[in-house]
Amino acid sequence: MGFLRSFSVLVVSDEAEKLYKIFDSIGITLRKTSKSKSSSSTTLYLYDIAFLDIDSEGWEKRLLELKQYMPVIAFGKPQIEKAVKSMKLGALDFLKKPLKDESVREIFQNFKDKPKVEIDGLIGISRIMEDVYCGIRKAALTDSNVLITGESGTGKELVARAIHNLSERQANPFIVINCSAIPDTLLESELFGFEKGAFTGANYTKKGLVEWADGGTLFFDEIGDVSPLFQTKILRVIQEGEFIKIGGSHPIKVDVRFIAATNRDLPKACREGSFREDLFYRLNVIHIEIPPLRNRKEDIPSLTEFFIKKHSAKRKDIAIKGITEEALDTLMNYSFPGNVRELENIIERAIAFTNSSEITVKDLPAYLIKTSATKKTQQGSLREALDLFEKELIWSALQKSRGNISKAADLLGIHRQQLQRKLKQFKIAT
Ligand SMILES: Nc1ncnc2c1ncn2[C@@H]1O[C@H](COP(=O)(O)OP(=O)(O)OP(=O)(O)O)[C@@H](O)[C@H]1O
Ligand SMILES: [Mg+2]
Repeated sequence: MGFLRSFSVLVVSDEAEKLYKIFDSIGITLRKTSKSKSSSSTTLYLYDIAFLDIDSEGWEKRLLELKQYMPVIAFGKPQIEKAVKSMKLGALDFLKKPLKDESVREIFQNFKDKPKVEIDGLIGISRIMEDVYCGIRKAALTDSNVLITGESGTGKELVARAIHNLSERQANPFIVINCSAIPDTLLESELFGFEKGAFTGANYTKKGLVEWADGGTLFFDEIGDVSPLFQTKILRVIQEGEFIKIGGSHPIKVDVRFIAATNRDLPKACREGSFREDLFYRLNVIHIEIPPLRNRKEDIPSLTEFFIKKHSAKRKDIAIKGITEEALDTLMNYSFPGNVRELENIIERAIAFTNSSEITVKDLPAYLIKTSATKKTQQGSLREALDLFEKELIWSALQKSRGNISKAADLLGIHRQQLQRKLKQFKIAT
């Protein structure tokens, strides 16, 4: 009998090869982290489980360290006192040498049934999301700056919050700066604040966002969209951990962890000269990439279920319990240009529309139903089919631009007014 998923196993023993042979013979696939020799605390979070040989020197200390990151199975010569001691120190189980295939298999059998490392508020069981969770844990263990990249609606802000909530800074503020919303003229006053009397009208002292974040985390959202001035101003705070208020005479020190997010290709922006390379390197100490939903479709069912639970309370008249298989199939076959946010919008809309306790295909937007375009071409006119095609493109562009009409028009390569006419024609609400 094989195991469905692969494991990342850390083996601490002079006889590691023996264990690998057993893994092989009982059909356990090892993930590539298992092969890495080094196991510094920043890579330990990557493992699922450890096998620690307690006939080796210094095993007690090693056990105490490892158990903080993963379940540890102790193994050694059959000596009662040592076995008991290993369990007291926190080993999950003890196996005696010589190791038997059956006892190792049992460990994995039990382990497999336990839920995987999950992170509060984040849904997704795909391997891709597991890697994202690992990245979050790693980032939370350190105080390094983090760059989160991913298409619109993939959950960048959610991930930034999760890092903060798991970090030592959790009790302190998490401040979001929507970078593209601050014009250059207000930049310094928003970020750094001003002293009373700094300029006409400054009749009080104002704290800037950087100061509010002291002790906590500052999240620069949409960092790829900021002006050169913005880049220069924040580089100094990030490098020196200090800033000067408008009208202030001396720098103020702050203790802030920076997380930035963007859906742009920053290395490319650096090459083209629109983004400062020094700022990029300062932010990109830990990089977390959130892949688009279409590359992790196995997350769609659990996300769907989650959003149904989240929004079903809005219907007072019926209790919505789930979704039909056919409707879920339709979702699985869609590409979600707007990613998780789009899925959430679709479910919210379906909940508002449905007449039954289960969401059906009829409750989903027409553009999701792939076959409809072909059906229409067969039965209806070319015009109808083209309209449908156009509608799908427009909807997709609007999802990518998060409802911003100018940006969507840009993506479609048409004028804003033209797009507005189309929206009216197709009765698409933004
Ligand atoms: N893995 C997930 N589990 C649960 N909810 C999620 C997940 N990913 C995203 N969401 C939800 O999808 C929506 C979009 O997420 P978020 O705002 O974090 O995306 P974003 O990447 O910051 O998007 P944008 O680039 O458009 O700002 C939110 O409502 C969020 O709660
Ligand atoms: Mg966002």
